[in-house]
Amino acid sequence: MYSEKVMDHFQNPRNVGEIENASGVGTVGNAKCGDIMRIFLDIDDNGIVRDAKFKTFGCGAAVATSSMATELVKGKTIQEALQVTNKAVMEALDGLPPVKVHCSLLAEEAIHAALWDYAEKHGIVIEGLEKPKNDISEGEEEEQY
Ligand code: FES
Repeated sequence: MYSEKVMDHFQNPRNVGEIENASGVGTVGNAKCGDIMRIFLDIDDNGIVRDAKFKTFGCGAAVATSSMATELVKGKTIQEALQVTNKAVMEALDGLPPVKVHCSLLAEEAIHAALWDYAEKHGIVIEGLEKPKNDISEGEEEEQY
């Protein structure tokens, strides 16, 4: 049912953890399954994503897509990171079963939420970026899970 790449990223997820003083942090949730994903981005002065980490409280596909999504955005410019869509993440994982497509959407949204946070902190507008619908970042300092 799952590709080898999905299994690999689920069993050996890359970039698990947090980035202290991250340039941008995005937390998104899926109301239906209750899964939550948080992505941390370290973006340098030239707008290059130097590092990306994630914490995911969710299903195996959510873990695998967070792992792949963080791998894909590393070393990219902000505009390139914006192109790391759920489709791109799924392709990189050699596909996901149809019922698991929404999990990859969470990864795309978490990246967008982190970029949104970065833009807000720096008072800039990132062209083509909209605030993700499932952004639940508000008040996340207090939040523990
Ligand atoms: Fe919720 Fe996968 S089932 S993210």
